[in-house]
Amino acid sequence: MRLLSLFVVLISVISCTPKEKGISTIIPQVQELVYGTSYFNLNNFTLYADENAWTVAELLSLELNKLNYASDSILPFDDPIKANSINLTIDTGLNVNPAYYELTINTAFVFIKAAGREGLLHGLYSLVQLLPRSSGINDVKLACLKIKDYPKFKWRGLLLDCSRHFMEVDFVKRYIDLLAYHKLNVLHWHLTEDQGWRIEIKNYPKLTEVGAWRTQKDGSRYGGFYTQNQIKEVVAYASQRGVRVVPEIELPGHSLAALAAYPAYSCTGGPFEVTNDWGVFKDIYCAGNDSTFAFIENILDEVLELFPSEYLHIGGDESPKFRWENCPKCKKRMADEGLQDSEELQSYFIKRIENYLNSKGRKLIGWDEILDGGLAQNATVQSWRGFEGAAQAAKTGHDAIVSPTSHAYFDYGLEAIDLEKVYQFDPIPEGLNDEEAKHIIGGECAMWSERAPQHTVDSKVFPRILAMAEVLWTYPETRDYTAFYQNVQSHYQRLDQLEVHYGLETIPVHFNSTYTKGAFRVELKPGASDLKLHYTIDAAAPLAYDTCLTLKGTKHLKAWASKDSEMYGAPIALDLYQHKGLEARISGLNEYDASYAAKGDRTVLDGLRGSTNFRDGHWQGYSAIDFTATLSFDTVQKIDTVISSYFQYNLSWIFMPTKIRVYTSTDGLNYYNRAELNPNISAKKSGEFFETFILSFPEVEAKYIKIKAENYGICPPWHPAAGSPAWLFVDEIQVY
Ligand code: ACM
Ligand code: ZN
Repeated sequence: MRLLSLFVVLISVISCTPKEKGISTIIPQVQELVYGTSYFNLNNFTLYADENAWTVAELLSLELNKLNYASDSILPFDDPIKANSINLTIDTGLNVNPAYYELTINTAFVFIKAAGREGLLHGLYSLVQLLPRSSGINDVKLACLKIKDYPKFKWRGLLLDCSRHFMEVDFVKRYIDLLAYHKLNVLHWHLTEDQGWRIEIKNYPKLTEVGAWRTQKDGSRYGGFYTQNQIKEVVAYASQRGVRVVPEIELPGHSLAALAAYPAYSCTGGPFEVTNDWGVFKDIYCAGNDSTFAFIENILDEVLELFPSEYLHIGGDESPKFRWENCPKCKKRMADEGLQDSEELQSYFIKRIENYLNSKGRKLIGWDEILDGGLAQNATVQSWRGFEGAAQAAKTGHDAIVSPTSHAYFDYGLEAIDLEKVYQFDPIPEGLNDEEAKHIIGGECAMWSERAPQHTVDSKVFPRILAMAEVLWTYPETRDYTAFYQNVQSHYQRLDQLEVHYGLETIPVHFNSTYTKGAFRVELKPGASDLKLHYTIDAAAPLAYDTCLTLKGTKHLKAWASKDSEMYGAPIALDLYQHKGLEARISGLNEYDASYAAKGDRTVLDGLRGSTNFRDGHWQGYSAIDFTATLSFDTVQKIDTVISSYFQYNLSWIFMPTKIRVYTSTDGLNYYNRAELNPNISAKKSGEFFETFILSFPEVEAKYIKIKAENYGICPPWHPAAGSPAWLFVDEIQVY
């Protein structure tokens, strides 16, 4: 027997001489790979494992059985290695990084050797990903190879918001499987919110009796929560698969569900309801009340019992200070503690919680708002409002996790974040030196669920999470989007096997238009190379798109993509408005948020009007400041009408302007007010909508037009986020 195995090993060494330095079909891509020339035949294999690798071998056996590969018992690992075997061992001397593993496949055996359990699990999932994509195939051949692999970042996560929409235990476990399969190792479990408290706390039963349920707008009851036993089950399941579960217990804001159950811990005493709206709400935990801290600490005691993770996420984001600024107890706290303002009171709140967690041997993570008013001593910052919070944390010696809305928010549509955009993500903010960069421990993608009930989550998370998995594992200099994209195409079969209902990679039709010499030049581009494009203009017969369209006058364009003669995704419908302003230059704009305006300054002067999605790229968004613009023409124009559109979605703090004014000038020095208008739309009007305002006046000659729209200012007292800065969203300025 020994002789035989030695013989087989010799054969395999010869047949696995390096062929090429290659890339694998594994997602995320491996660091080092050399192919051999032959293959391992997977039929009739036996599993061998070290004692400390045993539980991983059991998991591998489970995974293989799922794919209909029979593996009977597991036997103790033996050297020399047997023929027709899969072997798992842990050797802590192999590498200092416990996430490191080596996977060898030769004609005789498969061998996964790792520096720790973590690495062994990575090796396991690499092997599973190398198996044929259709299960239960006989005569399976695995190409000979040698992989050496390890992650760039140690924190590779997904946030799952199970508060806005409840997700069942089996669904959460399935996501743990999917994370592990793609070597992501953190499930950031968002468990408390304004819309629902989802974790059983024995000391405060009303948190779930009251806080876990809301009355929907149609009058129905909606909710659910996880019992402590279910949470233990999820945490154990995750731990077995190398996934750390980090719970997020939101404070001091996003706490309306808790306050609906226990209103005494608010500033006003309530009463409150678990809200059925999305947004930011001004009723938060009272920072002046010591019993609030006792309440939170008692909750945390139970949370810490359930979650062994050294980290606990306490939220800290989007906490309006309106109540605190008007609460005698909070004001007394500020005076007693010598705090200058409510930002410092928030910092006091977070630091007090951090001290409590540290005293229990745990570490605090908070969203980047915890930087405001002074950062707690040992806190880790999760940067979401861009990269700035992470940079600031790293520069002051704090660890940071990076999950910016620009690349990592998978609740956003593909028009804002598509597969390639995620692939461009690099968690290291610009301007950090090597030492500072070490504080960037990784990143996360965020699946906020306001608009994502459980059955839609797959289509938003996949395939984008594949790109996230790869950018958190690999080094930027080795990444190649074309190769990754190819891998994704073949990976779909695995996702089918895993019954993942993935969505699209990109919007089906990319659209670009410019206006020159009195006509729109419209270019359409398919989101993927295997799509065909079609269009109609003003509802005429459909045409196949071939080359750039030149369109004169105001037109209605509809375009769509097809794949194998089937419609792919949804059609786009666009109105192109021809007006005099398209010939003008634009200047004098205040600073708008660059992330919303796809064409920069020109966004408001391109012939296209924004939709009821304020993130569609057509809107220019101004936080707390007015919109002003000057349009200048080469020649004198006859003008009698200026039209402009504004968005309102008060739950996202976006309001109509309070006043719109139009001025004209012939010399650029002396301006005359030609028209003004007070939009008569109540700030309380709910929903996402826009209004178009027409300012007409007797015809004048003008070379310059100035338009001003006044920002609403701050969210009013009745508003859930009272006191927060209001947004003004503007689109197409049409001139006739
Ligand atoms: C967040 O998106 N409010 C962290
Ligand atoms: Zn208070």
